[in-house]
Order: sequence, then structure tokens, then C-alpha cells
Amino acid sequence: MNWIVQTNEYKKDLVPHNGNKFLTGNGFFGVRGTMEETKKDNMCAINLAGVYDRAGDGWRESVNAPNVLYTVVEVDDKEYALPEAEPKSHEQILDFYNAIHKRKTIWTTEKGEITVEAERFASMANQSVIALKYSVSTDYDCKIRIKSGIDGDVWDINGPHFVKLEVSENNGVKTVVGTTGEKSHIVTAKEYIKADFNCDRKINCDSMSAIEEISFDAKSGEIYTIEKVASVIAPVFSEDIDVSRVSYDELKNAHIKAWEKIWDISTVEIIGDDEAMYALNYSIYHLNIIAPRNMDNVSIAARGLSGQVYKGAVFWDTEMFMIDYFIHTDPAVAKTLIDYRIDTLQGARNKAKEYGLEGAYYAWESQEGGFEGCSDYNITDVFTKRPMRTYFRDKQYHVSAAVVYGICKYIDATGDTSVFENGGAEAIIECARMYRSLLLKRADSKFYEVRDVVGPDEYHERVSNNAYTNKMVKLTFETAIDAIKTLENEYADKYNELDKKYDLKTLEERFKDSAENILIKEPDERGLIEQFDGYFNLEDATVDEVRSRLLDPKEYWGGAYGVASDTQVLKQADVVAMLGIFGNEYDKEILKKNFDYYEPRTEHGSSLSACMYSLLACQIGNAEIAYPLFMKSAGVDLKPGGKEWMGLIYIGGTHPASEGGAWIVAVKGFAGINIENGKLNCNPCLPEKWQGMKFKLMFMDKLYQVEINKNGGNITEV
Ligand code: BGC
Repeated sequence: MNWIVQTNEYKKDLVPHNGNKFLTGNGFFGVRGTMEETKKDNMCAINLAGVYDRAGDGWRESVNAPNVLYTVVEVDDKEYALPEAEPKSHEQILDFYNAIHKRKTIWTTEKGEITVEAERFASMANQSVIALKYSVSTDYDCKIRIKSGIDGDVWDINGPHFVKLEVSENNGVKTVVGTTGEKSHIVTAKEYIKADFNCDRKINCDSMSAIEEISFDAKSGEIYTIEKVASVIAPVFSEDIDVSRVSYDELKNAHIKAWEKIWDISTVEIIGDDEAMYALNYSIYHLNIIAPRNMDNVSIAARGLSGQVYKGAVFWDTEMFMIDYFIHTDPAVAKTLIDYRIDTLQGARNKAKEYGLEGAYYAWESQEGGFEGCSDYNITDVFTKRPMRTYFRDKQYHVSAAVVYGICKYIDATGDTSVFENGGAEAIIECARMYRSLLLKRADSKFYEVRDVVGPDEYHERVSNNAYTNKMVKLTFETAIDAIKTLENEYADKYNELDKKYDLKTLEERFKDSAENILIKEPDERGLIEQFDGYFNLEDATVDEVRSRLLDPKEYWGGAYGVASDTQVLKQADVVAMLGIFGNEYDKEILKKNFDYYEPRTEHGSSLSACMYSLLACQIGNAEIAYPLFMKSAGVDLKPGGKEWMGLIYIGGTHPASEGGAWIVAVKGFAGINIENGKLNCNPCLPEKWQGMKFKLMFMDKLYQVEINKNGGNITEV
């Protein structure tokens, strides 16, 4: 199987895209796929998980560490750096099996050629470590100076975040300690360079950087290599190493072994379609480099660790699109994701209170402690350049249900009901209490309604009885009832504790009443489920027609004046997302009719959309329709050209929800894996050219080998 991502050209406009495509990481930080000589103006970043800061009036966002990779070469006193110095040739490679990034660049000078080769990795075995091997050679005798060190002048979208930088050097170990402004978080970056050849070495420390100059007389044809071992630590991960004592090769071996273990369980083989297998495993790579292993109080941000876009915040993406992969390949990671929500319950309670609600309303853009990172004005209008009032923060109530659903999926596949005892039941109950306080009833109606919401299709704001939201709210009530019962039967102490606080019998009654009487949109005479009250009365324009009304390509389609707002054009799967989850409650015919109605009206303006449609297409039994949507999801970060702007806000970066969604489609859609009577079962629906699939899955603490063929499959315990 091919595990290499490669480009043989260097184009300045592709620098942002390649920064994402060639991203490496280890859950604690992501290292953007930029060159070693790249500085902040070309979006170079070592983006940290779980460390946030607010500078001035800007948005609170994740913090980028001082750049320990910074390295540039000077030949005969002239600097050779991309993008300024045009290369003769350039290769950039990501070996995503071993999670190793490489580059080779050749520049031509009047006297001959200079070749720079570099190899680096964000260690999976030692998560504070980044290691770099950097070589330079020329085909003529010359003077070379390699400048390599820690660049503290980092790229920020809403920074700078380090109000204090302490730069020092001791026995060749350079250190830059950054202190953030808002909460005085300390980020420490260190590094040590080994150069086993004759050279002069000098370390220069200034107020932001510690750079070493390694100067030597180079002989034609000779390769000069330096090895750098660097570490970054921050409050979320502080297991440091002595950078001057460990060798590059030792670290590389341990790193490769750690990845071998990960791939042993997470590789998905597709027989008959190398292109799909490549894209899917590349997606899985992206999920693995952002998984919070060996860390507490962190989850996964919507743009992973590719930068500060979306404020480094955690969205419903994690529970709806990513957690399934971890539940079935590394349940400890899934548990960390769930614990993050349990640990941030207080933040969710604070938000509920702010809106006059009971219980817990999770942040739409959750940062540490469950702090809501989303602002009331989350988009900048392209015409007036003014911030636009949006309702993502106040009205995307469905985020709390996603948290509940994540917990359900985890427990269903692991059997780990101790989550209920350890805060899970309380989180679920609090979400159900929030929804109960949101329900409204008209004087003569029997139904509870959920009015004034934003559903997954964000273009239509402040709508009522969004089909997806109401169904998820009902699920939350039902889950809360189950959680209370489980506590009563299995965890008496916890039951008594919560009973004192909430009066569980009364709550159970209320939740039952809510689940039974909440308005659930049923298919109409055409078999269609209306996305929200009044949706079918909106103008039935095509996506292209709506697009043609844009006055500016970066204009926002939704909200008060958006081109899509008064039409039936939607941003992303909404009713279809609901059917993907609750499909077994409807006839296949209904699923098909709704797919056929909503798909042509969907802009797929979010990378979360295609996988949901693909999953439903599999459930309908149409793998050929599912296939291109699956490929779009799995290949989302392989090709440039994704949506990079929302109004005037840059939203580029990696797309882990789409990648997690691709895994869900492959395993639960094409392979048709489901849980039946507490057992793993499969009901495949393979695309024509797929002869079969092979992969492993964790279920109820056991590992299974799954082999799928055209007619069925075998699931055997390993
Ligand atoms: C989507 C949201 C998603 C967010 C982060 C938005 O464009 O509409 O559903 O949670 O991106 O991925």
C-alpha cells in the first residue's frame, strides 16, 4: 500500500494548503508542513492542544509554541530560503505510515548547486519531542553557515500571546520560555544540536529567539548533517526529556515503533481500490496525529492541530464525527474525549444560566474549562467589514445532545457504564434538564416544541422545530431516563447523591413526559420530512442559482441577508444527518425520498456534509452514490480548494470531522458494521470495484478482525 504524500514543486500560493496536507503531530502539538526556514509570515506553527489565550480584544484562541525547528542555510554569506530564493527543484514528502516529514531542495548558484535535505517528526513515543535531521551539501568548495534555533516570533491569528519571552542558553541547550498574557500559562521550548564535523559554533540570544550559527568550510560533495532534538512542554503535557542526552536515531526508532502499534489496529484495507484505501488511511493518519493520548482535560479541535482557525475550539464535530473511530480503535482516547465534556460540565452550566436555562448547555466552540469561545459576531461582513450578528453561540442547542450521543456510543461499544458513575450520568441529566427548560407548548397543543434554534444547516437561523434538533433532544431525554435507571440498579451511592441534588424520580417523570410529547416531524404525504417549520414554503432555488446571486465570492450565504437564507438551499446535511442516525426507524423508501430531495438542495458548504449523505446512501443500499461523497470526505486534505473563507474570516486548516466521517462511512456504511443484540454484526454494501475490506475493531474490550466480501463477512476475535 502507498503511504507517501509527495509534491515535487514549490508554489507560494500552496504554502497554506501544504501546511495542512503535510501536517505531523502527536496529540499534544501539530507541526505544520512548512519548511524549516519558514517564519510566521508563511503560516509556520507548532500548534498546542489545550492551551488558550486571549490577547487584547481579539478572539481567544489556541497558542502556538516557539518554533524549535527554525533552520536556514547561508552559502558564501548568502541566505537560501523558500519562498524567497527560487529553487531548481524541490520535494516535500510525508511518509504517513511512519509519520515522518522530509524535504529536499536544490538551489543553483553561479558556482554550482546547493542541496538541503531535512527529515523530522513529532514524536509519538515522547510527546514533548520534535526531532530534526538537517543536511547540506554543495558541488563546489564554499563557506557554509547553518543558522538553527528557536524562533519565538510565532504566527498568530489573534496574538501575540506571549507577553514575556525568556531566552537563554546553557551548555549548548537553548531555551525559550513564553508566558501567555491572559492566564500566565507557561510554554517552554528547548533544543540541542549535534554537529559531528569540524565547525565553529556560536549561540546568539536576543529578546525573542535563540539561534545557533554553525559555520564551516565545506568541501565539494561532502554532506554536512546536524541533528536537533527539541522539546516543548506546557501545562497539558509536561513530561520533558533531557534534549542533550538522547540521540535522533533512538527517538526515531521509538517513534516508528509507536506508530507501528497504532497502524496495527487502525489500518483499513480495501481490496480492489488503492485510491480509496490511500485516502482513507491518510484520513486515519490525521485522526491519529490529533488524538489526545496520555493527556487529561483536552479534546480535539475542529481544525485538529493545524493552527488557530476556529480558535482551536472543540465543536460537535468531535462527538458526531470523530469519536466513533477512537471508540473502535483506541477506547482510552475516546474516554479522554468524554472526560473532557464531563470535566467541562460547569462551563456548560454557566452557559445555560447565561441564557436563562436550567442544566447544561455546552459551548458551541469549547475551550479549556468549557469556556465558550464563540462570539455573538462570528463572521465579518465582506461589504461593510463589520462583524455580523450570528446565532451559532446562542441557538445551536444541538451541541449538548451531541455530547450525550457521544457518551451513548462509547458505552454501547465498550460496556463501560462506570462513565455514568464518574460524571457521565450527571452530564446527561444536566443536558436533559437544559432541554426540558427549553420546551414550549402552545395553549391548545399536545406537543412540546423547540423554537428559535439553529440546526446543523447554519444558513437558516432562528428556525423552529428543526427535525434534527428535536430528534436529538428526544434522544437526550431517553438517554437520561436510562442513565437514571442504570444508576439506580448498579451505582446506588451515586444514585443517592444525585437524588438529593435533583430528586431523580421527579426528573424521570418529566423526562418521560418530554420524550413522549416532543414534536417529532413525520414524513408528509410525499414522504418528506420538513427541515423546520415553514422550510417547504421557502423559495425552491437551485444551489447554482443561489451561488450566482453572490456579489462577492467570500460573501456569507446565511444569516439575516444571506443569499441562501430565504431559499431551500442548505449548507450541510441536516434532515439527512438525522436519518443517518435514526435510519432504522424509517422505511428505506422514506430514506431514499429524503436523500433525493435534500441532496440537490445542499451546498455541501461544510466539510461535514458529504460523509453524512454518503452514510445515508449506504443505508439506502446505493454504494455507487455513496462512493464519490465518501471520496470527497476522505480526500478532503489531499487537494487544495476547500472552502477557506467564511465572510472575511480565514477558516482553512485540516478537516478531521470529514476524515472521521470517512471512517464511519467505510466501517458503518460500506462494511455495514452495526451492533445487534450486543454483538458486532455486518451488512455490507460495497461499491462495485471493491472486492472486500479488512480491518480490526475494538468492541466490548475485545479486538476483532473483520473481513468483508461482496456477500457478507466474518468477524472473529483476535
Ligand atoms: C459547520 C459546523 C462545524 C464547524 C466546525 C462549520 O462550518 O457548519 O457544523 O461544527 O464548521 O467544523
